[in-house]
Formats: sequence, structure tokens, C-alpha cells
Amino acid sequence: MSRPAKSIHGQWSSRWTFILAATGSAVGLGNIWKFPYIAGENGGGAFVLVYLLCIACIGIPLMMAEIMIGRRGRQNPVNSLRSIAEEENKPRYWRYLGWSGVLAGFLILSYYSVIAGQAMAYIFRSFSGVFEGVTADGARSIYSALTGDPERLLAWHTVFMVFTMVIVARGVKGGLEKSVKFLMPALLVILLLLVGFSANTGDYFNQAIDFLFKPDFSKLTGEGVLIAMGHAFFTLSLGMGAIMVYGSYLPKNTSIAKVSITISIADTMVALLAGLAIFPLVFANGLETGAGPGLIFQTLPIAFGHMAGGAFFGGMFFLLLVFAAWSSAISLIEPAIAWLVENKSISRRRASVYAGFATWLLGLLTVFSFNIGSHWILFGKTMFELLDYLTANIMLPLGGLAIAIFSGWIMSQNSTQEEFAIEYPVFYRLWRILIRYITPAAVSIVFLNVIGIVG
Ligand code: TRP
Repeated sequence: MSRPAKSIHGQWSSRWTFILAATGSAVGLGNIWKFPYIAGENGGGAFVLVYLLCIACIGIPLMMAEIMIGRRGRQNPVNSLRSIAEEENKPRYWRYLGWSGVLAGFLILSYYSVIAGQAMAYIFRSFSGVFEGVTADGARSIYSALTGDPERLLAWHTVFMVFTMVIVARGVKGGLEKSVKFLMPALLVILLLLVGFSANTGDYFNQAIDFLFKPDFSKLTGEGVLIAMGHAFFTLSLGMGAIMVYGSYLPKNTSIAKVSITISIADTMVALLAGLAIFPLVFANGLETGAGPGLIFQTLPIAFGHMAGGAFFGGMFFLLLVFAAWSSAISLIEPAIAWLVENKSISRRRASVYAGFATWLLGLLTVFSFNIGSHWILFGKTMFELLDYLTANIMLPLGGLAIAIFSGWIMSQNSTQEEFAIEYPVFYRLWRILIRYITPAAVSIVFLNVIGIVG
């Protein structure tokens, strides 16, 4: 079998660039927008604990597996999976796993872009000073005025998609390296500032810490466990080949274990900081922990509205959040682009136009699910909720399960040992146990539990 030594898209200039790009993919709306609201909806502490366990026992081994497969295959997920399967004399249908990843990325980006658009709208609201002295009620009505207006949501969704596809068209390395290197640390600084502000709420801060870190298992449902697990996949960008594509641009002599652990820790820190910034505000202002997808938009303006220089910091915060969302959005669509370029021989630019337009179009479902289409209900969910549930809680865990089986059972021990040759032997052994037994068992049990067969 001939396997290209390098990807046709080039390689990262160093290990750090890969870490930055993969962290850029991982850190995004999932950490700052989604984690707090689903933790709030699912009762806090126990949910957070399950989420952390999933990151450690499922997320990290799976990230290692994805990077390893990508680096060995050196192509888009569809081709990498097929060529590795061929090399192992296993059926080529494993490439369909790559396909389902391309599909999942496309479905996720369609709603991700609409939420990122809401964050974009908030950049301008904040800089213009509308949040000054705002009350909880005021913040809520500013948010519903935005989501209730399909034209505005549509406009921002369009702007976000156009920007994303322009960067994608120019190649992953161009826009991405720079933006991640400077903007992510800046986002972290403002997040710390917000946590500092919230820490000043005294008792409410303690209440938030209790809420997030004192597990109360009576509040955790089987469904909550599935959502926590799904979110571990979502927040680390796992289960659909995004990290696999980035791995295909990774040089051989890099420790996959070290980069996976680094990325996972950074990603988890950002999510927990976001929770610590938001929940004190929730309690201090008598808001609902289960306020849903609007949670950050209804809480953070209150903080920015009451701190010195709040209009500026607020504007910067949402600006940086949009950058974080961009670097994630790029990785959601990159598997599709890499496939179109490698297999259909069309230019990156053209591939970006096609994929971008299709995603934009599907995004209309989410745009309308916040307003004129809020009564379009399927399986008890709005279109936005349905897309989110289907991808994060079903497609990503199933994709992850298949990737675990592929790297633990389909690939021979020789091949994986070769890829992990530079890792500590204990790491390799631990990884193999986790990926062969623990990850598949955990994912299966959580599913069976929700379906009602186990537990
Ligand atoms: N991880 C990103 C976030 O937390 C979203 C994301 C980017 C993603 N690429 C992905 C989610 C691939 C699932 C799969 O915001």
C-alpha cells in the first residue's frame, strides 16, 4: 500500500502549532456558551463530575486515537480510514465512518454559526453601552429582542459563515495560527476578569462553587449522563474526524499523549472558568440555572453593565468569543473540505463555497427555531434542539465508539505500537486498555441506559 508521507495540505510548522490549532478547535462556544447552560439544566455538580470523568476516561484516549489515525493515514478521514483498513486487510467500509463525521460536522456547524452570530451581535451591543446598569429583566429582553428577530439572526449567521469560509478557502494554516496564538490567551484574561468580578459577589460565589462541584446524584438522570458524555465529545471536537484531519498535518516525532493531555486540560479549564463566571451572577440576580441556550447572553451583560470599563471589556469578550468560535467552526468543516479537495479534485476555494452555502442554508432551520419556527417540533424538540441532540448526543458518541473499535480492534497492535513508539510504554498500555475496553463499554452502557435496557 502506498501511503503519502505528508499530507498534500502541508504540515504544521511545529508541534506547538498543532496544539494551538487543536486547542482552537476544542475551545469555543462549547466551553463558554454550552457547558454552563447544560450544567445548569442538568443540576450542576453530579453532571459536572460525569463530564470530567468522560473527559479523562473517554476523551483523552479517543483524542489520541484520532490523532494517531490521522497521522498514519495522512489524508481526510474518509481516505485515512480506508487506507488503514486496507493496510490491515480489513473491509474498506470503515471509510463510511469518515463519511458520518463529515455529515456530523456539517450539521453542527449549521447551528453553531447561528449562535456565533448571536455573539457577534453582542459585540456591538456591548461596545455601544446598552448594557450599562442593565438589570436581569433588561438583559433578558435584550436577548429575546435579538432572537425574536429572524432577519437579524439571519444577517449575523450569514456574516459568520462568510468569514469562516473565507478563512477556510485560504487554507487552515494561514488564518488560524495567528488568531489562536494571540486571541485565545486574551480571551482567557477576560474570562479571569469575569471570574474576579463574580468572586466579589461573596456568598453567591460560594453558592456557585457548591452548585458546580458538590455532586447531588439525585439531580442526575440517565439522560443527563448521556448529555454529559455527549458534551465531552463535543467540547474536545471528537467523534467526527476534526482532530483526525488536524492530526494528518502533524509531524511524526510528536508525543500524541502529551498533546492530547495538554489540549484536554486547557479545554476543561476554560469551561470551568466560564461556569465560575456565570453561576454567581445567576444566583445573585435570582435567575434560573436552567435558563437554556440564552444563559450567557442573559447573565454576562449584567456583569459588564456594572463594572468599570464594562462596555469595553464586554465588547472585547464577545469579540474574542467569536474568534474562538471561528477557530472551532473551521475544524467542523475541514473534513468536508479536505475530502472535496482530495477526492473530487476541486479547488479549496470552490469547495469552501459549496460547503459554506449548504451549511448556511441548513442554518436557516436554527435561525427560525428561535422565532417564527419555534413551534416546528419534532420528537418534542425544536429544530435547533433536535440538531444539537442528534449530533452531540448520538452521532458523536457513536462515531467515537466506532473510532475506538477501529483503533483498538481493527488496527493491529503492531501498527498502533509503531505510531505510539515514542510514548512511555505505560502510556501505551493504559491507552490500549482504555480504548479497547473502557471507552466502548462506557459509551454502550450510557446508550443502553437511556434506551432503557440497562439500569
Ligand atoms: N469543540 C468546539 C466547541 O467546544 C466545537 C467543535 C469544533 C466540534 N469542532 C468540532 C464539536 C468537532 C464536535 C466535533 O465549541
